[in-house]
Amino acid sequence: MSRKVLVAYASKMGATAEIAEGIGGEIRQHGHVVEVCEVKQVRSVDEYDAVVVGSAIYAGRWRSEAVRFLSKHADALHDRQVWLFHSGPVGPHADQPQAMPRKVRQLADRIGAGPATTFAGRLDPETAKGFLARRMAATELGGDSRDWDRIGAWAQDVAAAITSADVSTWRRPEQAQERLP
Ligand SMILES: Cc1cc2nc3c(=O)[nH]c(=O)nc-3n(C[C@H](O)[C@H](O)[C@H](O)COP(=O)(O)O)c2cc1C
Repeated sequence: MSRKVLVAYASKMGATAEIAEGIGGEIRQHGHVVEVCEVKQVRSVDEYDAVVVGSAIYAGRWRSEAVRFLSKHADALHDRQVWLFHSGPVGPHADQPQAMPRKVRQLADRIGAGPATTFAGRLDPETAKGFLARRMAATELGGDSRDWDRIGAWAQDVAAAITSADVSTWRRPEQAQERLP
């Protein structure tokens, strides 16, 4: 059955935005109606059955707007299927899973979401923003480490879980009750 899915992201230099688009495209191919947009643009998650939230990592943290998104919509997200991802590691560290920042972990627990999946990122001299990023991009950290096969495979798993989910098993009992005829 077709579901309505939101892929909301926080990105500074565009790499995470493109990952979010890739995830959205894959889920769409499974017949779901998908919207991909920046977390800042989302007023409400009420209309969605499932939500994927992703942020770039800077200095071990999620982008603040992504943390705000999780916090603001925590109760509504608790009633939905939610997946989290973050993107960051580059260069020789590209395959190192990143720990969830403490605040994000607390919010994930509140929402009932599993741990965030780490995807490698991009630090490219062409797209790097700011002095520090450009400096880093000129080192061994520079380049595009994103693994599109891995991202696609993850998105397929998410899509399959959305397809097979029984709405009544993920909504709170009282809400599921309200939906009964
Ligand atoms: C100043 C700076 C700090 C960074 N800190 C981290 C970090 O702590 N952990 C990590 O995995 N990646 C880190 N990165 C790499 C970025 O997360 C990576 O380039 C990412 O793909 C950027 O995503 P965006 O283009 O969506 O903003 C850092 C990059 C910069 C420029």
